[in-house]
Order: sequence, then C-alpha cells, then structure tokens
Amino acid sequence: MSENNPHLTLPGPKSQELLARRQQAVPRGVGSTMNVFAAKADGAIIEDVDGNRFLDFAGGIGVMNVGHARPEVTHAIIEQTERFTHTCFSVMMYEPYIELAERIAKITPGDFHKKAIFFNSGAEAVENAVKIARYATGRPAIIVFDNAYHGRTLMTMTMTAKVKPYKHRFGPFAPEVYRAPFPYAYRMNMTPEDASRACIQELERMFVGEVAPDQVAAIVIEPLQGEGGFIPAPLGFLRDLKALCEKHGILFIADEIQTGFCRTGTMFAVEQDGVVPDMITIAKSMGAGMPISGVVGRADIMDAPPPGTLGGTYSGNPVACAASLAVLDLYEKEDLAVRSRAIGEKLMLCFAHLQQRHQCIGDVRGLGGMIALELVKDRTTKEPDGHTASAVLAAAHKRGMILIKAGMYDNVIRVLVPLCITDEQLEEAIAIFDAAFAEVAGAVATPA
Ligand SMILES: Cc1ncc(COP(=O)(O)O)c(C=O)c1O
Repeated sequence: MSENNPHLTLPGPKSQELLARRQQAVPRGVGSTMNVFAAKADGAIIEDVDGNRFLDFAGGIGVMNVGHARPEVTHAIIEQTERFTHTCFSVMMYEPYIELAERIAKITPGDFHKKAIFFNSGAEAVENAVKIARYATGRPAIIVFDNAYHGRTLMTMTMTAKVKPYKHRFGPFAPEVYRAPFPYAYRMNMTPEDASRACIQELERMFVGEVAPDQVAAIVIEPLQGEGGFIPAPLGFLRDLKALCEKHGILFIADEIQTGFCRTGTMFAVEQDGVVPDMITIAKSMGAGMPISGVVGRADIMDAPPPGTLGGTYSGNPVACAASLAVLDLYEKEDLAVRSRAIGEKLMLCFAHLQQRHQCIGDVRGLGGMIALELVKDRTTKEPDGHTASAVLAAAHKRGMILIKAGMYDNVIRVLVPLCITDEQLEEAIAIFDAAFAEVAGAVATPA
C-alpha cells in the first residue's frame, strides 16, 4: 500500500469476475469510482476481494467519519436486530427513535426547543425540510445556490446545480426553485469578503427581479459546498444570509448532510460562523453506513405539518437509530471534532507543499478535515483540469488509496477520510499524494 510496496494491479481476478456479473445485472447508470469490490473494512482501511488493502480517503462519500466496523456500532446494531428490526414508527413507536431525536436536538446549534424527524437518505431529508418549510410559511418558493448538491430525487435534483450527470435529460423539474450565486471567491477572482458582498447584493436584486421575498419559504444552503467542489462559504456570509432571511420571514435551512458530524472540525459547520439555522438536514456520518437521515429544527416550525403528513415506511428504522446513538457516543468519547482539525492541519501542510511544486494545483481549501485541491491547466486563466485530477486519482488508487473527485468541472480532489485514521496511516497517505502528483503532474512550479 505504501511506496515500499509494489503497485497494485487493479482489478484483481475476483473483482474482474464480479465486474463481468455486474455488467450483466446492474445498469450502467450507477457509476463506481473504483473498479474493485469490497470484502471487509476496519477503521480507515478497506480490503477488496483479492486481498488488496486501501486507505479509504472517500469514506463512502463522507459517511464513515467514525470509521469502518467500529465494535461499538456493530454491537448496537446486533443488539437492536435481536430485539426487532421494524415496526414502522407510524404504526408502533420505539424508544431509540425518541432518544435519537433528543440527542440530535441537544448537539445542534440553538438553545431553543427543537424537534427532529428521521428518514432514510439525504435527499429524503432535504425533500422533507422543504415540505415543512412550505407548510410552516404558506409560501411556495425555495432559494438554492450555484454549485449546490442536494440529491437525486425530483425536488432535490431540481435544487442541485450541476447539469451533467445529475439533471441532463431527467427534466422537467419541480417549479418554484430559484438559484442564487454562491461566493466561490477563487473562481470569482475576488477576496472572500468582496465575493460575499456581491452575492448578497445579487440576492437582493433577485428579490426585485425574480421572486418576491414574501413568497420565499426557505433558503437552503450547504455551509461548505460538497459535491460542488468543497467550497466554504466565507466567514460572515452565512450570518449576512441569516439576517436577510430574518428581515423577510424566510426560513434558513443548513444542509449539513456532508459537512455535519465533526467533518469540518466542529460538530456542525454553521457553528464556525456563529449561525443558528431554523432547520438543519443531516445524514451520511450520523449512521456509519446505516441508511438514516433527519431534519432537526425549531419546534414551532417542525410541528407545523399536521399528523400523518410526514414519515415513510422505513423512516427512522430502529436498527439505524441504534447505530446512530452509538455513533454519537463515539464523536463525544473520542473528540473527533478536534481530531478532524488535526487531520486537516496536517494535510493542508502537505497540500501547500504540493501546490508549490505542481503548477496544476490552483487552489487548496476547506475546513477541518473537509479539504480539497482544485486542479487547473493554467493558474492565471484557471481553466479547470479534470483530466489531470482523474490521472491523480488513478495513480493514488494503484498505490492503495481510495480517492474521489468533486466540482462543477470534475477537477477537485477531495478528502473525506475516516477521522479515526492513525498518524501512521496519515503519513502513508501523504507519501501517496506526493508520489501520485509526482507521477502525473511532473512539472515543477516556480513559487509565486
Ligand atoms: C449536501 C448534500 N445534500 C444532500 C445529499 C444527498 O444525500 P443522499 O445521497 O443520501 O440522498 C448529499 C449527498 O452527497 C449532500 O452532500
């Protein structure tokens, strides 16, 4: 896996067999970054069916913040499974759901009365946050942002910005979704402060030219855009946005599905800007792989839709709730927010050195352990370089590191490593980043 080991030949024979079966049985629309199949996992390592070991820098797209196969989580799952696996909360209730709602209300920002409701996927959480916001305000419109990603269902696909592969030929889309600019300072060629100011001004213009603010139920925003390219909202932007929401009676919904649960160095990313949302959508790393998501928010808003209007057959499944409770214990016991910051600092240092050596690295950015490299063909024109990003990924894969991309132009290499990664594994990862860039990017940059 490290530079001392020979490069892996991927896919191995067992993965090749499975690939052939997959091609026959599974539609091609489900993409897969790696062309190998998992056999088992532990902490920050996944082993494939041919015995190849990989450092997992994707965490199943930000799901495994506590790490793979944590015994505490496994025990909670087994214990609940032995008792019962399903009743449907809408038919007969169970305590793990209640306990999880209480715990989630406690760890989210805001010292007011909060309530939480659970679903299966991130997209379902966003869908329901929109439903609740519309019911609570009696208004139809939703404002989202450039580069946003909120899911693949009809409403969330509409809210998502990127056309290919998420929206192309999947329309028509849901009505009453308006898109505002996001302060992507690097691509706007502005300071973060100027970018923020320009975006707030544009939003105010939208209220005159596109949608009246008294028709807007909610603004939905990722505090650090994930799929869109790991773009953090500049400090102060969320606060200004919240002030604008309060002025017009618009609900502020933070989509913390990728940023939540210690990923950015705090339990939730909005905490870093001192913002208290009306509602937060959560998923991914709340369940360590069990399909669970939720919406948590002000009790008066959450209680607006009457009984029977929200829910779903599997929503807040008891096994997933039990897993999530064990996961929450781990965040507290192991202080994973602090660990996230330490991982981020160490990798940022490595990335800064890489940026000095390789012209193709245009920007290095992020919060805590949610960091990324944006690759460009030219640092002045900032023409995106998705091709080199793909080549770096392939070079990392064959050295035993799972790595994935993001970004509107597929040119951002992102880090979503389990926060339980050891220091030794982190050093291995840094050596792999060095070697992968040396192999692919080659060119030596003259320091700016
Ligand atoms: C910010 C954000 N919102 C929503 C979603 C959708 O979550 P899911 O894939 O669980 O539906 C994602 C998934 O990547 C996300 O990053």
